[in-house]
Amino acid sequence: MKFLILVAIIGAALADESPLKAILKSPLATLKLYSSFKGEQHLAFQAAEDRLRFRLFRKNAEFVAEENSVEGEMAKFALNFFSTMTESEKQAWLGFNVTGAELSPQAPSSPMLSASSLPPTKLWTNEDKVTAVKNQGGCGSCWTFGAVGGLETRYAIKSGVLRNFAEQEYLDCVYEGQRDGCGGGWMNACYEYSATAGGRLAKSVDYEYTGRDGYCQGSNKPDGMIAARIKGNVPVRKSEAANVEALAEGSLAVAFEVTNRFYSYSSGIFKDTSCYSWPNHAVTAVGYTPLYVLVKNSWGKNWGDQGFVRFARNHHNCNLWNYSSYPELSETGVADNGGNDEKTDYTADEEVKPDPDPECVDVYPPCYEYWCDVDYVRNDYCRKTCGVCDENACPSGTIRCSDGVCRHEHMC
Ligand SMILES: *[C@@H]1O[C@H](CO)[C@@H](O)[C@H](O)[C@H]1NC(C)=O
Ligand SMILES: *[C@@H]1O[C@H](CO)[C@@H](O)[C@H](O)[C@H]1NC(C)=O
Repeated sequence: MKFLILVAIIGAALADESPLKAILKSPLATLKLYSSFKGEQHLAFQAAEDRLRFRLFRKNAEFVAEENSVEGEMAKFALNFFSTMTESEKQAWLGFNVTGAELSPQAPSSPMLSASSLPPTKLWTNEDKVTAVKNQGGCGSCWTFGAVGGLETRYAIKSGVLRNFAEQEYLDCVYEGQRDGCGGGWMNACYEYSATAGGRLAKSVDYEYTGRDGYCQGSNKPDGMIAARIKGNVPVRKSEAANVEALAEGSLAVAFEVTNRFYSYSSGIFKDTSCYSWPNHAVTAVGYTPLYVLVKNSWGKNWGDQGFVRFARNHHNCNLWNYSSYPELSETGVADNGGNDEKTDYTADEEVKPDPDPECVDVYPPCYEYWCDVDYVRNDYCRKTCGVCDENACPSGTIRCSDGVCRHEHMC
C-alpha cells in the first residue's frame, strides 16, 4: 500500500513537477524517483558510478523544483536526459566556437523602415517548412545543425521541396585536415564551404549523420541542392529587430549561451537572466510572434518543448542576436521533383496573451521621443522612452480588444 502511494506520487511528479519539492524532502522518495527516472531514460550504472549519478540527479531535481516555484516565471523546467550528466558531458552537446567567430555587424543607429510592413507573426513550422527535430548527440556539431536548419526552410520556400540536408558533410568537410568538427565550429563557415564547392550540399539520406568527424566525402556524394545553390553567407545585423526582419523571409542560424536553466527547459516562454559568459551553442530560429522567437534545437524531441524553445521578445536572450546568419541562395532554374522529407509535427501556438512582465527597455539607444508616434518604433525599439511599459500594454502587433484581451487587430 505504502509503495503504491509512493508510486502514485512519483507518477504525478513526472507528469507535473509540483510535488517534486515534497519528494525531495524524503531521501527514500528521492531514491525511488531516481530509480523510476533511470527506468524511463533506460539508464543503468555500476554501483560506484550510480552514487555520483544520484548526486547529480538530486542536485538537478532541486534546481528544477526551485526554478518552477519562481513567481511569475513563464517557462517550465523538468528533469530530462541531462539530469544525470556531469558538466563536461553536457558541454559535449554544444559546439559553437566563440573564439574567432564572426560577430554580426552593428545594427544601424536608426530603425529600418521596412519593419513596419512585417507580418506580426511568422511561424515556418506552421507552414510545413521545417523538418523534424534532429539529434546531434554528444558531439559538438551544433554549428552544422544550426546552419542546415537555416538552409532547409529557405530551400523549401524557393523550391517547394522540404528536404533533410546533410550535417555530416559539413562536419567532415568544413575543417577537413584542420581540426575536429566535434570540437566546435561556425555556421557561416558551412555556407562558405558550400559556396566554394559549387553551391552544393548532400541530402541526409545520401550522407548520414554519424556524430563523428570523418573523412570528407563531399565530392563522392550526389548534390542535394537541385533547385538552388548556396552562394555564400549573409550575416544579420546585431539586433532583435534585424533578426525578426530576416526571419520573416526564412529561417536563421543563430547562437547564444546555454545555461543550466536552458538544459532543463521544458515549455513556455523562456527568459534567461542567468547567462554570464559567451555564446556556446548554435541552433535555428524558425519563426516569431509578438511574444516570442521560436527556435529549433538539435537535442531530439525529448528535450524542451518537443525539441523547440520559445525565446521571449524584447529580451537579450543571452546574446541570441549577435551571431545570426543565413545562406544566400540562387535559383538554378531546374525544378526539384524530389518528394518532401518528414516535416516537424510541432505546431506553435499563435494565440496572444498579454506578457505579464514585458521588459521595459530601449532596444536601440538612443531613442528620441519624437520617434514615438511611429507604431513599430514605440512598440519594438523604444518601449522605455515612449512609456509603453505599463502592465496594461499589449505585446507589439496587438491591441486591447473591447473584452480586455490582447489580439491582432483583425481578431478583435
Ligand atoms: C576555435 O577557433 C579558434 C580560432 O580559429 C581555433 O584556434 C580553435 O582551435 C577552435 N577551437 C576548437 C576546439 O576547435
Ligand atoms: C551581444 O549582445 C548583447 C546584447 O544583446 C551585448 O550586451 C553584448 O555585448 C554583445 N556581445 C558582443 C560580443 O558584441
